[in-house]
Order: sequence, then C-alpha cells, then structure tokens
Amino acid sequence: MSKECSALPLCPQRFVWTKHWYPVASLLELDPSRPTQLTLLGEDYVLWKDGSGNWRAFADRCPHRLAPLSEGRVESDGTLLCAYHAWRFDGSGACTRIPQAKDEQLETQARNNPRACATAFPTRVEQVRSCMSTRLTCKAWLNTCACALCACMMLPYS
Ligand code: FES
Repeated sequence: MSKECSALPLCPQRFVWTKHWYPVASLLELDPSRPTQLTLLGEDYVLWKDGSGNWRAFADRCPHRLAPLSEGRVESDGTLLCAYHAWRFDGSGACTRIPQAKDEQLETQARNNPRACATAFPTRVEQVRSCMSTRLTCKAWLNTCACALCACMMLPYS
C-alpha cells in the first residue's frame, strides 16, 4: 500500500509511507515489563521488550486465532505470551511454546510451521528529532522538534 504525499510540491519524490522509519514511543513512557499496543497508519502493533533487552514490534495479532498479542504478557524467560491459549513467541517472532500440543514431537512440528510465527518488524532505538503525532502528515514529519529517546519501528514493505 502506498499513498501519495499530500505535500507533493514540497517533496521531489513520491513519498511511500510504508518504507520509512517512524518514531512511535518515548522510551520513558514504555513499560518494559508488559506489552504496549499502538496503532500506526491504521495498523495495530504491539511493542514489547524481549529477554535479550531488545524492543520488538509485532503485528498485534496472534498467528493462532488472531487475538491481540498486546493483551498478553512478557514472561520471565523473555518471551511474549498470548493471553488466549498461551502460545509463546521469542523476539524474532518464532513460536517457542504451544501448551495444547499432545506431545513434544507434535509441538515441535507445529512450532516449526512458519504459520505459527508472529509477524515481526524491525525496530531501532535512537535519538530522533521528530515526534510521532496523530496529526502526522508528510509536511509535519519533515518539521522537527527535540524530544527524548524514542523507540522507532520500520513499517513493512507493501
Ligand atoms: S489466539 Fe493466541 S494462542 Fe490462541
């Protein structure tokens, strides 16, 4: 999906909204002990901090039954647990636990199925000069302001 920039006369190139980094949250406002839901450009995401200390961004839907992962919790082993049937995911989105599986072999087989993976997006933490705003437009995005450290995420390519 791509959208034309509304400030085309100011932008010499076509602005593809899904191919840019966006500051989405100040680290000062994120609780690393629990997942945080956010919506960006009409899509729902969950931000969470994994066991290795990295901020992760997943599509906010469990691959099992599409329940919001943001309603789950971060486990002590650093995985994200879905609140509905307790599937767990590591920071890469790989499924690490399916408690309903009848035996270990079937669980391993199910976990290795690519459809059992959460949809993960790249993130990066950096000092940025532009704040996320619900009134974000191309022109506003080009305007800058000073703010605290932000967690940023890359939207998927269309
Ligand atoms: S909907 Fe997430 S584990 Fe079932």
